[in-house]
Amino acid sequence: AYVNGRYRPITDEAIGIEDRGFQFGDGLYEVWSVRRGRFLDHEEHSARLERSLRELQIDLPVSLPALDVILREVVRRNRFTDGLVYLQVTRGVSRRDHPFPVTPVRPTLVVTARGLDFTTIDRRAAAGIAILTLPDERWKRCDIKSVNLLPNVLAKQKARDAGAFEAWLVDEDGCVTEGSSTTAWILTKEGTLVTRATDNRILWGVTRKAVRALAEQEGLRIEQRGFTVEEALEAREAFVTSASSFVMPVTSIDGRTVANGAPGSVAMRLRELYIAAAD
Ligand code: PDD
Repeated sequence: AYVNGRYRPITDEAIGIEDRGFQFGDGLYEVWSVRRGRFLDHEEHSARLERSLRELQIDLPVSLPALDVILREVVRRNRFTDGLVYLQVTRGVSRRDHPFPVTPVRPTLVVTARGLDFTTIDRRAAAGIAILTLPDERWKRCDIKSVNLLPNVLAKQKARDAGAFEAWLVDEDGCVTEGSSTTAWILTKEGTLVTRATDNRILWGVTRKAVRALAEQEGLRIEQRGFTVEEALEAREAFVTSASSFVMPVTSIDGRTVANGAPGSVAMRLRELYIAAAD
């Protein structure tokens, strides 16, 4: 792991006791997928990182070109070509007090990486995943990739306890916002792709953006709006997207099958295209 200027074993205890990330969740993160040694959608993830930093008024303690070197070095030291890179920045270490430190402190920067066998994920995609829907109990700035993930963690656990792989979160109007760590999509009977518009209730998924562009190239019609769980259950296909799962078909929602219960062909086609573009 890279921690504040040093590379060290991931098992090291290297974060200050009074780190604001630990005490207040006062920090943000980013996740990149690495395939065949290449970072997928690198610029888009870096751009989102910059935006999260701006929104939380945290300064990255290194320049972006230096960060690039660090990201690659952490991958190199972990000796893998396929995997995930995790970055976290917090406001730093300071005596516990809610307002920002009066005398600015250096933000904490941590980068970790681990190898991942993408064939496991391919197998999951070939089978399709089950979804459990739950009320969206998060705050109203989900567009910031903050480390405050307690509602997401609880929702994901409830899903797993129910034998589902992901939770879809539903807003007060009955519309799906997104998954606990993925973007939610459906393909309607009429053949239109639907995913929520990039408002403050969802994270603006990098994979969402890339898949949208691929879908447009394929001539698919796309509507950016919320959809209800009922609409998803009547859809021709449903799927999720994220850096770690690419495009993942959804085959059941709340125990009811989506269409014929098999992964949708459009979702699988988009998955193929996304991976091909990355390779
Ligand atoms: N999750 N929505 C939420 C709430 C997320 O946490 C994520 C990403 C996404 C998909 O965004 P992207 O396509 O940029 O990965 C949507 C990451 C992978 C995570 O928390 O590990």
